[in-house]
Amino acid sequence: MKIPWSLPNINKKDMQSIKKVLDSGWFSMGSEVKKFEEKTARHLDIKYAVAANTGTAALDMALKCLDIGEKDEVIIPALAYIATANVVLYNNARPVFVDIDDTLNIDTSLIEEKITDKTKVIINIDLGGNPSNYDELLRISKDYDIPLIVDGAQSFGSEYKGIKCCTHGVINTTSFHAAKLLTTIEGGMVFTREKEFCLKATSIRNQGEKSKYIHQYLGNNYRMTDLVATVGSSQLDRFKETLKQRRKKAEYYKKNLNNVEYPRELHNIKNCYFFFLILVKNRDKLNNYLNQNGIDTRITYPMPINEQPVFKKISKDFFLKAKDISKKVISLPIHHKLSIEQQDYIIKKINKYAG
Ligand SMILES: Cc1ncc(COP(=O)(O)O)c(C=O)c1O
Repeated sequence: MKIPWSLPNINKKDMQSIKKVLDSGWFSMGSEVKKFEEKTARHLDIKYAVAANTGTAALDMALKCLDIGEKDEVIIPALAYIATANVVLYNNARPVFVDIDDTLNIDTSLIEEKITDKTKVIINIDLGGNPSNYDELLRISKDYDIPLIVDGAQSFGSEYKGIKCCTHGVINTTSFHAAKLLTTIEGGMVFTREKEFCLKATSIRNQGEKSKYIHQYLGNNYRMTDLVATVGSSQLDRFKETLKQRRKKAEYYKKNLNNVEYPRELHNIKNCYFFFLILVKNRDKLNNYLNQNGIDTRITYPMPINEQPVFKKISKDFFLKAKDISKKVISLPIHHKLSIEQQDYIIKKINKYAG
């Protein structure tokens, strides 16, 4: 049996929507992008949404909206996808890493000791879709007057105490990459309640343009195309069902797996399970065994960001928890096409080998 780790969730209706845009003759950024932005903002119950061509671009727009630059420090969790830290470097700022806790998200009790008079922003990530402690993150943000950016690339679909993730920050972003629950193959979005940030992000997305060929900021080409925005809109129509099925699969794993641990989940949250993560002592052996048996997995992530070759020069810190988790974690297949038979097969293999 061959089981992929992820499969893009594109159905016939999504394909028909692409055909409609192709037939219209307008493919680049236009009315479909606008429609997708409005629909997504309504879905999240947030005022403004600005689409981008990747989640990384959206995050870069967020940092530029806050004028992050040289000598600024940006607090981020030590274990996450590297894009979050890279974007800090694109803006010539310094990432300041904070260890994680057993939710696998930033340990909020360790943030305050990292705050200096150079700290300009805290970027938070909900690893694999598991919501972070937003009560604490917002308290710190308020007490120290440091804005919170939420990099919700992994938590579009999650909720914290009844409030949708990707909305807790002053500026929030997400990714619609092919592996995500809602995908435009590549894509991202910025969400905010502030008109000023919406206007600035919109300008930065289009080479910092203010009016035709007059450029007020150093921007980029971060434009989404109508061709993919229509796929996002089409997917949003069935997103509730997508989430329901994903959570059902996560519950099935949890009910049937033995001898594995999971990231701790806070009370009163809903996880979208972008990742379904298990924590095991014999990780490398189990992971090889699963791969040899046709089960594709991911190690999310194999080391704290500051240990990545590209970041080694920047931070010599050692993060005990992030390091420990990076040696235990495996991300299992949990895509929309994963059948019960496939899940039973994965469960059987893990129950035989884990411990
Ligand atoms: C936490 C996080 N931030 C940023 C990104 C970048 O998104 P993209 O791949 O759409 O550029 C990702 C991608 O998955 C991510 O997981």
